Amino acid sequence: MIRITTLNGGTMTRQKFVENLLKRADVKTAARGEAFAPANIALCKYWGKRDAELNLPVNSSLSISLGKLGTRTVVKFAKSADRIFLNGKHAPKAFAARLSAYLDLFRADGQFFEVRTKNNIPTAAGLASSASGFAALIKALDQLMGWGFNPRELSMLARLGSGSATRSLYDGFAIWNAGQRADGMDSYAEPLDAPWDSLRVGILEVSKARKKTGSTEGMNRTRETSELYEAWPAQADCDYDELRTAIVAQDFPMLGKTAENNALAMHATMMAAWPPLCYWKPQSVSLMHKVWAAREEGLELYFTMDAGPNLKLLFLQENQAAVKKLFPKVQVVIPFSS
Ligand code: PMV
Repeated sequence: MIRITTLNGGTMTRQKFVENLLKRADVKTAARGEAFAPANIALCKYWGKRDAELNLPVNSSLSISLGKLGTRTVVKFAKSADRIFLNGKHAPKAFAARLSAYLDLFRADGQFFEVRTKNNIPTAAGLASSASGFAALIKALDQLMGWGFNPRELSMLARLGSGSATRSLYDGFAIWNAGQRADGMDSYAEPLDAPWDSLRVGILEVSKARKKTGSTEGMNRTRETSELYEAWPAQADCDYDELRTAIVAQDFPMLGKTAENNALAMHATMMAAWPPLCYWKPQSVSLMHKVWAAREEGLELYFTMDAGPNLKLLFLQENQAAVKKLFPKVQVVIPFSS
């Protein structure tokens, strides 16, 4: 049986949300703003919106940022239209339209922007470049407009661009409190101050191709049609608590097991949606089997996956050589390198 539910109707528009925040801000414009934000990988995933207008999530999530992998963005004022560049070229239409629609939330009448954004990770291949993209953009815009928002406020504004961007304001571990308020003012991210020097993330790229179903459409379809989605919020809450405990205790097996199980549970909810949603490619599945086989042999290795075919491995420094031997193409990220 296919279950159809509808999203809770929010009461506030995103424009109103921004207006409310801007009331608290200064306006002392500069000639340019420039900022970097790291990509982040969720260990407890955000999957499902309780309010689609304000990007308010059903559940809290927890992520690790990818250090130097992310987005650098420069913003200036432009004369008669927005000019949007991605990796040194005019941005594709859909990308430029999404950024301009986001900029609409902040522009005064007749105000336009030039945005130059560069990713050092593949765009939209499930490597969370929209997260670092919107976080870098709002930080750069804050400098250009001279608002002086704090990271918590910036995280709420990044949230309006892409939910996972909420967590990309910080290095290291970040938590995004789902919040309960209808106005979204308690749905922001904060850092978890728990450096873990030996932790490693390994990126196994299966495909650079742009995904067919974006995460908003994927989440909405899952929430509206998947029987399994009913179980998701409780599992996410439990995983979120366990991950926090694992991080504080630096208990790596607990972190790895919880993160991998959380990702697989999220993908199970998607596959039970209708039409079914499967972001995996055959190669993703064979890589998963390789991880499981290595673990059976005693290697402490886990993975997580987002709305795309790529795997992100989780392991400790002491096992880096063994992981590289098994997966020669792995790109190793050291999240806590300075
Ligand atoms: O930020 P969005 O709307 O692209 O959604 C991100 C969804 C996941 O990457 C699958 C999970 C997460 O928490 O990042």
